[in-house]
Amino acid sequence: MLQNTTSAFKNPSSVGSGATQIIKVLDRARWAPSGDNAQPWKFELQGQRAVRVHITPPSEQVIYEYGGRPTLIAIGALIETMSIAASQYGWSTAYTYHRKGELSQVDMVFTDCDHTTTDELSEYIEQRTTNRFPYETELLSSDQKQRLEAAIGPNLKVRWREDWRSKWQAIATNMRASKLFFSIHEGMVMREKGVHFDDDYPEKGLPISSVGFSKPISAMIPWASKTWTRTRILNRYLLGWLSASLELDVSRGFNSAALFSMHWTDDKTERTDEEIIGAGRALQRFWLTAEAQGLALQPSYGPIAFSALADDNVRFTKDSWALRDARKLANSIQRVYGTTGDQIAFLGRVGKPIKRSDAPRSWRQPLADLMKDQEDDLHEAMTVYERSA
Ligand SMILES: Cc1cc2nc3c(=O)[nH]c(=O)nc-3n(C[C@H](O)[C@H](O)[C@H](O)COP(=O)(O)O)c2cc1C
Repeated sequence: MLQNTTSAFKNPSSVGSGATQIIKVLDRARWAPSGDNAQPWKFELQGQRAVRVHITPPSEQVIYEYGGRPTLIAIGALIETMSIAASQYGWSTAYTYHRKGELSQVDMVFTDCDHTTTDELSEYIEQRTTNRFPYETELLSSDQKQRLEAAIGPNLKVRWREDWRSKWQAIATNMRASKLFFSIHEGMVMREKGVHFDDDYPEKGLPISSVGFSKPISAMIPWASKTWTRTRILNRYLLGWLSASLELDVSRGFNSAALFSMHWTDDKTERTDEEIIGAGRALQRFWLTAEAQGLALQPSYGPIAFSALADDNVRFTKDSWALRDARKLANSIQRVYGTTGDQIAFLGRVGKPIKRSDAPRSWRQPLADLMKDQEDDLHEAMTVYERSA
């Protein structure tokens, strides 16, 4: 299916106004979700209908990056978003994933197709966002659940937790993950890099105002995040992790229509990169389908990451108590979900959002910053695009 188009973009005359559409597709695909809004991708045009996505290797400092999975899930979401955006031009999309050691990339090719109509999820790409605030507790209708279940295709299934007891079981495992994240030094390093305290729309990372903390906790976090000593004081004397977790896990978990887990339908014990990418594609369709029905969603990746790290005996922290706690978390994941963390494709919550007038959110890097340097060729294509936008 893939043609060798590598040299097409070397010739500026092959770009011209014909690249406007592919650039529009990339511009929209920027809005795909990624863990901590890391946007682990760079685009390299390979002609008017082909793009190579260079995947940024996960930082070792991001302890959630168990086996690079969050990055691959984000890449899957990006591929799905590109394919949905491309459908507006009647294009069908094919992709191939390649990996060589640390380096991996995806080649995407778009072809005209008489049968392709604009995907109905296309209009929700930019407005889909992570809502970390309380939702209404009104249950999802069976029609809503059916649409969401249908969105993820045959390789995955969703399990819902809607009653008090089953919600609490999932909330308790989320709390164990929050305790780890808020109490270990490695978690503080991640917060320092990823959370912005004075920008409501950062181009990378998340604004603290979107995390869902109440005002007193939002005020405390920047103070505590300045030094490790302060974080420890907060945790030891002011129950810092517990106050954060009561808001982020307990209050948010109960103030949802449902918590959900996504599982593979087969019982293989190992997952390939392609399967993880497939889960990312499914997640993005699930999320956009929720958005299309006026529902909000928040992922909860911590329990998957910490329990999988414990199962693989990865020493992700210098704190031995935390390694022991991660082991306990892995045991409770097994009890609650009946499987190991690495067999859970995704966790989260969903529900009807309570409208808010202010809505800070993670923004995105400009497209020009996401393009691999292509100097003159790119400049010409971008100029044409900006003129037509
Ligand atoms: C693999 C993956 C894991 C994520 N994990 C979490 C999480 O544990 N908690 C959370 O609140 N958001 C999580 N997110 C949401 C991202 O933080 C969010 O998509 C990103 O900041 C971009 O913001 P947006 O979704 O509002 O566009 C995750 C997203 C992905 C793709």
